[in-house]
Amino acid sequence: MDEFQQPLIRRIEQKDFEAVAEMTNRHFPQMDMTASRITRRLSKGFYYFVATVDGSVVGFVDILLREGRAKLMGLVVEDEFQGRGIGSALLNKALEFARTQGKNSVYLEVKQSNIRAIKMYETQGFVFSKERGESGESIYIMSRKVET
Ligand SMILES: CC(C)(COP(=O)(O)OP(=O)(O)OC[C@H]1O[C@@H](n2cnc3c(N)ncnc32)[C@H](O)[C@@H]1OP(=O)(O)O)[C@@H](O)C(=O)NCCC(=O)NCCS
Repeated sequence: MDEFQQPLIRRIEQKDFEAVAEMTNRHFPQMDMTASRITRRLSKGFYYFVATVDGSVVGFVDILLREGRAKLMGLVVEDEFQGRGIGSALLNKALEFARTQGKNSVYLEVKQSNIRAIKMYETQGFVFSKERGESGESIYIMSRKVET
């Protein structure tokens, strides 16, 4: 762990939009994300945080504030930066943000096959809430409370 440079986690800035859109599409091609869609999302209650190492964006999380609760929309860490706590740090940033915005709970959707992400969410206190099917692939809805 110590041999790695610690990431910086901060709110997204315009200069990050292209990198975040590209990272989104690489992991979730169906999203068809663009820099201008990120701009629109930011005006509609979505909040993005990025992790940077040496000034480059290596991961991001986005969260949508809703009535009483928040939905974690996306969480991605570049392959070569995975497994060193960056995903957990981004998740914690989003949870802390939801708490400061007065939200009671955070929920998310994750593919049943995404064992790695599910493990991380469980480690961070998320519990299985329900399951729904989507074009042959089961989706788990997981949630956790945040203390306000
Ligand atoms: C899920 C993801 C964000 C995790 O990011 P990360 O930076 O690797 O996560 P962390 O290093 O903080 O690890 C958190 C937990 O993930 C799990 N994990 C990490 N590396 C793992 C590995 N190689 N194998 C299995 N589990 C692993 C562990 O439970 C770990 O907790 P621990 O360190 O206490 O054991 C990352 O794998 C990713 O971007 N995946 C592709 C996109 C994606 O699927 N996003 C989630 C969509 S819902």
